[in-house]
Amino acid sequence: MTLPPSSGTQRALDEVLPAELLGAFDDRFIRSCEFVEEYVHRLTLQVFRDTGLEEACAQPVTVDEAVRRAGLAPDIALVPCTWILRTLAARGWLERVDTARFRASAVPRLDPVELAAAQNAHDPACLPTYRIAALAAESYPSVLQGHTTGEDALFAPDHIGTWLEYFSNANPLYAIANTVGAIAAEQALPAEGGTVLELGGGLGSGAEALLARLDTAGHGKSLAAYRFTEIVPAFLRRARKSLPDYRAGLPLSFTWLDIDAPFAKAGIEPASCSLVYGVNVMHVAKDLAATLAEVRLALSDGGALVLGECVRPFADRPIYVEFVFNLLASFRAPLLVPAWRPNGGFLTPEQWCAALAANGFDQVTILPDIVALRDAYPSFVVAAITARCQ
Ligand SMILES: C[S@@+](CC[C@H](N)C(=O)[O-])C[C@H]1O[C@@H](n2cnc3c(N)ncnc32)[C@H](O)[C@@H]1O
Repeated sequence: MTLPPSSGTQRALDEVLPAELLGAFDDRFIRSCEFVEEYVHRLTLQVFRDTGLEEACAQPVTVDEAVRRAGLAPDIALVPCTWILRTLAARGWLERVDTARFRASAVPRLDPVELAAAQNAHDPACLPTYRIAALAAESYPSVLQGHTTGEDALFAPDHIGTWLEYFSNANPLYAIANTVGAIAAEQALPAEGGTVLELGGGLGSGAEALLARLDTAGHGKSLAAYRFTEIVPAFLRRARKSLPDYRAGLPLSFTWLDIDAPFAKAGIEPASCSLVYGVNVMHVAKDLAATLAEVRLALSDGGALVLGECVRPFADRPIYVEFVFNLLASFRAPLLVPAWRPNGGFLTPEQWCAALAANGFDQVTILPDIVALRDAYPSFVVAAITARCQ
């Protein structure tokens, strides 16, 4: 098994990343990113066969035709199958006959397990991401055939432990979003602290990283309040249990909040927050404009929105993280707006800037500068987006 060397990537990162981020993107981490991307692509080959797509692509077909021939449920399968065919074509494993049609000829058989073994030898802390990707691969046939939902398949009670290990600062492949987000959030928070509202806080890994950073920077003590919110009651309970131990005396509160509903339902008062913060949550907003309007209402004068997000470097380019999340309806099918929300899932830097500008925000910055980095390193997909109210 050979993977491209990391040295070119490292040089590109050295030129663009600010000093405080460089440490996080060391050679070890970059190598893990290369391993996991290859692992997911090999799982994609497996799913391509297991779902009947390989047979369906024996002659040149569009994605719609492939979905129909494979007997998959079109309303569920179209987005994931588009991702699968484009990903395999981008790897050169599937022939792209023209802009719309694909053909399977001599599709390779590559073992994903050897990548997991390589990752285990290189840095086993990343393995939770492999377990989640393997769970998704197993679930693909039944979800795409419409026998179960992605939500039920991925979030069954016996998988909660796997998710706990995945959404964790101990998993370098996930923690990077929290690291980048926390740096941007700390920079955006006024020197005197203020009130933080965290959206979609999940099991608490984003909060843990931000609170640790604020502590180091001396902001922690002056926080008036840290309002941790989440929609899944079991996640909220779990975060409530783990986070108060983090630092005694921190003004933490835990509230159920749905980003698709008025924040007032969760008791969030207008102009009450200095920072609205979310890691890997805003891209699941059903109606991004409506959620951004709620964020604006919640922010006080001069307040900031900071989003830790997976960012698509180029429009239409599939990224490996989508392999798992394309199974979820909330991820696949938000309200689309052609100018800045043309697809479900992740947005490009340009689409985030346009979405924020169209919804009353300005002074948008993206850390790191994905646009400057993406030609040299298109696999760089983590960023923090900061914006303020106009
Ligand atoms: C990818 S996880 C990120 C969790 C957390 N921010 C972290 O980094 O550990 C996305 C979170 O968004 C939550 N979520 C999904 N839809 C939501 C909604 N409509 N309102 C609020 N939270 C939501 C999920 O339950 C999940 O905890």
